[in-house]
This record gives sequence, structure tokens and C-alpha cells, in this order.
Amino acid sequence: MSEKMMQAIQVRRYGGPEELVLESIPRPQPGEGEVLVRVHAAGVLPIEWKVRQGLFKSVRPSTFPYIPGSAFSGIIAEVGPGVTAFNIGQEVFGRSNNGAYAEYTIAEVETLALKPEQISFEEAATISGGATVAWSALFENADLQPGQRVLVHAAAGGVGLFAVQFAHWRGAQVIGTASAANARFVSSLGADIVIDYTRTPFEGLARNVDVVLDTMGGEVLERSMRVVKRGGILITLLGQEPSQQETNRLGIRAMRNAPTFPFPSTSLLQNIARLMATGQIRTTIARTFPLSEASEAHALSETGHGRGRIMLKALLDRA
Ligand SMILES: NC(=O)c1ccc[n+]([C@@H]2O[C@H](COP(=O)([O-])OP(=O)(O)OC[C@H]3O[C@@H](n4cnc5c(N)ncnc54)[C@H](OP(=O)(O)O)[C@@H]3O)[C@@H](O)[C@H]2O)c1
Repeated sequence: MSEKMMQAIQVRRYGGPEELVLESIPRPQPGEGEVLVRVHAAGVLPIEWKVRQGLFKSVRPSTFPYIPGSAFSGIIAEVGPGVTAFNIGQEVFGRSNNGAYAEYTIAEVETLALKPEQISFEEAATISGGATVAWSALFENADLQPGQRVLVHAAAGGVGLFAVQFAHWRGAQVIGTASAANARFVSSLGADIVIDYTRTPFEGLARNVDVVLDTMGGEVLERSMRVVKRGGILITLLGQEPSQQETNRLGIRAMRNAPTFPFPSTSLLQNIARLMATGQIRTTIARTFPLSEASEAHALSETGHGRGRIMLKALLDRA
């Protein structure tokens, strides 16, 4: 019997966007507790070009070749042994550990949920790595409460746009940073104050905040610690561990985001999708590229600017 093949992006060594090459490779087989999904959309997350560049090679070296991508949506094509929660033909979304920049990917059922029909495949693929991260940071780690003040950096980005909406939905006062081009967009998500970080230091308007969601690291992280009020908390999504000496001096807490596992769980994915399906939370797609143009999609993501999540779409006309 001839092996079933698929188109997938392969990375064979660290380097620039040109290292993302579309190749024909064998279709993977789902194992115990896994499903094979025909991918309709895959989100492009900044971590994926950072890994491709080799930024994490000393701490987490890549095994080559690999297929990038984790956030996806699609239709179940096969179910592995022991899977009872999902069936062939169901529309699903979630996280894959096997690479989502491909026509097919393998997902564990623990990080998979049914896609509501009210949201598109592309919208569903913005949830993992975006909405799920904002949710875990604000609600699981920072325990954000109604009436608290929260500062969300990169409020127009793939994580920030959800963080602003979740915080507003919870009844917090929301301050977001974005360039002027995204200011109205961030306001429309529910931010009470939008700071154009290109013109105004955020410290001027964001003071005594209960929670900071840091999506930038470095100097923004250092400066953000000083706008948190005593007893408040800063959650950073970047690798840099906040200085404990500084947090002690300021009387605040600061930590790297630490989601609970499995992440994202089926129930978290379902909760967020329900909020989107009922129109309480919305998402934004920055731009959609065909899978064959993954290198262009990475080059755009690497600019660090824009609005919403960049998407890759698999070639749906192929059998
Ligand atoms: N640890 C984790 O679990 C985890 C998970 C998800 C993300 N992350 C990290 O979190 C960061 C954000 O992720 P993302 O997916 O939201 O990225 P993204 O969508 O690429 O973010 C782009 C946004 O960043 C804004 N921006 C750029 N420079 C800024 C600055 N100095 N101040 C404020 N906003 C600025 C841009 O706004 P303008 O266009 O208006 O300039 C743009 O809207 C990335 O570094 C990512 O790797 C970590």
C-alpha cells in the first residue's frame, strides 16, 4: 500500500524566513489519545520565528527537520486508538505539538475542542496561543478582579486584543498600549485609556495599576514594574525572569506566565469559543497567507507591528 502524503512546511536548520520550505512528506498517523486533523487554518505566533532563528537553541534546541506551528483549526480526518470524545468529520480547533503549518496535523484530545459553527476556521485558530494565554495570565495567574486597573502592553496584538476584552468583560479598568494606527481599534475592544507608546511614556497615564500584562520584556518589563501598586502583580510572557530584588523593593509580585496543564485544556478552549460564538469577545485576523507563503507570513510577524493574528491557510482544493 502506498504511503499517504501531505504538503507541509519543513525547517531544516536555523535561519531566516527562507528556511520555511513547502515539501511533500508522509502524513502522520494518530496514536493513542490523538486525532489526525485536516488543517484549515494555522496561526503564526511570534515564538515560531524566534525558534526558527535559533534564539532558544541553547535552552531548547530544535530537532531537524521540524514542522512549525501549534495553533490550528480543521476537520478530524482520523481518530487514534482509545479516542471516544471526538469523531471523524467534526470541526475542531486547539493546539498541536506536531506542527500545524501542514495540510494535516496530529493533536492530543486534551488540547482540542469542537469549533462552534458561528466562528470561522480562521477565527478559531486565533484562540490557542492568543486568547488562551491572555486568559491564563489575567485570570489564573493574576486573579484579576472587577474594579481593578490593568495595563495591557501590545494591546492590538494576537494576545493583547483578547487581554483587553477579557479584562473589560471581567469589569476591570483597562489601559492598553498601541501605536496611533491601532488606538481606535484598542478602544473598540473596551480599553478605557489607550497610550500611544511611540509618543507618550506609559508611566504618565498608567500609575498604581493592580495588574500588568507584559508582552514586550526588556526595558518595558523593567519600567512596568514601577507602575504596579504595592501588592499588585506583573505577569510577563517573555523568557526573562523579573528581578526578585526589585519586586521585593517595590512590594509587588512579578512572574512569568505559568499556565496550568494540559494547556490549553478542552474546557478553556470551549469557554473562550462560547464567548466568541455569543458575540461577547471578538478576534481579528491581520492577514491570511497560503501555506506556500509561510516565509512571507513570518517576515510580516517579525516586524512586530500590526493588528491581530497572522494566519496560514492550507490548500483546500487538494484532495
Ligand atoms: N510565554 C508564552 O506563553 C507566550 C505566549 C504568547 C505570546 N508570547 C509572547 O508575547 C509577545 C506578544 O505576542 P503576540 O502574539 O501578541 O504578538 P504580536 O501579535 O506579534 O504583537 C504585535 C503587536 O505588538 C505591538 N507592539 C510592538 N511594539 C510595541 C511596544 N513597544 N509597546 C506596545 N506595543 C507594541 C504592535 O502594535 P503596533 O502595531 O501598534 O506598533 C502589534 O499590535 C511575543 O513576544 C510572544 O512571543 C508568549
